[in-house]
Amino acid sequence: MEQSTPGTSGIEHMPRGGYNASWLNRHLQTDVLEYTDRYDVPDELKQRVIDSLDHLGSVRGLHEKNAHMALSLVSGIDAPRILELGAGHGRLSEQIVQMHRSAQVTVSDLDPTSVHNIAGGVLGANTRVRTKVIDASAISEPDDSYDLVVFASSFHHLPPKVASRAIAEATRVGRKFLVIDIKRPSAIPLALISAGALLIGALTSPRSKARAFIHDGRISWLRSYNRAAFTSLGTAADPAMVAEFLSPSDRLPHNIAVAYSRPTFAVHESESRRS
Ligand SMILES: C[S@@+](CC[C@H](N)C(=O)[O-])C[C@H]1O[C@@H](n2cnc3c(N)ncnc32)[C@H](O)[C@@H]1O
Repeated sequence: MEQSTPGTSGIEHMPRGGYNASWLNRHLQTDVLEYTDRYDVPDELKQRVIDSLDHLGSVRGLHEKNAHMALSLVSGIDAPRILELGAGHGRLSEQIVQMHRSAQVTVSDLDPTSVHNIAGGVLGANTRVRTKVIDASAISEPDDSYDLVVFASSFHHLPPKVASRAIAEATRVGRKFLVIDIKRPSAIPLALISAGALLIGALTSPRSKARAFIHDGRISWLRSYNRAAFTSLGTAADPAMVAEFLSPSDRLPHNIAVAYSRPTFAVHESESRRS
């Protein structure tokens, strides 16, 4: 059974595998930061990881699939206002503006270098796009500014208390908050992934792009949340938070997608449908 706490107290101690996580699962997590979260490493190293994510996402069709999922949540709205958090390379937003002719998109990241790069590219030149440095856990936007907030492949970067604050913030500025991320496996597969990544990393040249990507990838798996944890994080943000789990593509079995919303928005939506 999925277990959650009634308020924010104690959420910082929740294991990434949820309150009922096994002993081994609780030990397979880390507070070590990924390169992309560090400001004591060269930007060039961080951007190498972002480039690899862009490449891998393009090869697997991930950006396109994530954009389809995001747009399915705003399907009844003519000119949906969408905020992307943790955009990194910005490909998800790029797909959104290509697929939807009137979507208005704010593309953001905590890292100013990534935002600067996006602003200087094709996406930044689009008149329906705005770029901004935004911290997902303290969103500098007014209440109800967006129809949808989306955060892809990034939620695991946030420790539980910060992650819960991000859910509260994203559902304050947006009607729905779509989180798409890697799904935490059970303990044995997770142990094998972690050990395999350590081994492959050790055999890879320290200067290769792959080495930095494997380093961050291993930490990502160890910091990933499972379904029970996603539910508890939502409840900690607001006991009435609605968490709807969506089915990611069959070709992406390692992903999890959850749309958070507050019941107040559900009321607004039914009222606006009636009027
Ligand atoms: C693994 S990358 C994902 C990039 C892209 N969304 C993708 O799907 O490939 C994680 C991104 O989250 C950003 N990030 C980390 N903490 C954040 C926070 N508190 N608020 C906003 N973005 C954050 C990082 O700067 C990084 O660009």
